[in-house]
Amino acid sequence: MKFTFYGQSCFLLETSTAKLLFDPFITFNPLAKDVVDITKIEADYILVSHGHADHVADLVALAKQTQATVVAMPEITDWVTKQGIEKVHGMNYGKFEFDFGTVRMVAATHSSGLPDGSYGGNPAGFVLELDGKQIYFAGDTSLTVEMKILADLYKLDYAILPIGGNYTMDTDDALLATDYFNCNQVIGVHYNTFPVIAIDTDKALDKFEKAGKTLLLPAIGETISL
Ligand code: NI
Ligand code: MN
Repeated sequence: MKFTFYGQSCFLLETSTAKLLFDPFITFNPLAKDVVDITKIEADYILVSHGHADHVADLVALAKQTQATVVAMPEITDWVTKQGIEKVHGMNYGKFEFDFGTVRMVAATHSSGLPDGSYGGNPAGFVLELDGKQIYFAGDTSLTVEMKILADLYKLDYAILPIGGNYTMDTDDALLATDYFNCNQVIGVHYNTFPVIAIDTDKALDKFEKAGKTLLLPAIGETISL
């Protein structure tokens, strides 16, 4: 499986059968807009964790461009439907078997208003079972005991976690979270995009290393193999 980072919490997972894009926010991201050519992005599904602009700014444009199915809370799929997107799959906290694998929407401790002020439902994360691997994308969330339930349900291979602080977990919280759900391989997202979520990446990498865990910080535009 391949993971390509597009900045903030936007990334593409390419499995043997499908391309899954998450939280599209590229053209409004000062760090990504000149690095990523969104006209080249292909996707079969676009999964959206919540309604904030830094997760949906390019959602409608990319749904139109890719003809992908949008998977999100019903309040968010309703919002894109009103903007002319027909292929949607509304779901809430629960599990569904798609043609590419299984998706469970899980709780995130955050908020979820849409850019035009519409109600976006509850914020979420996703646990994905794809190509024999189990991957947790936390969305935007604080550290929460909700995460402990994942240890009962899964043997996670990777956790994609926000590490920028202020709106979400920071590096220390993310490190503690890995003990909650027993996963030592983390891909850090949601940092450095804005001054308020700027972090010292060397310090972050060092903290994980000292704890015997792996923090991966792919550059914007970089693809890594999972
Ligand atoms: Ni948010
Ligand atoms: Mn965010």
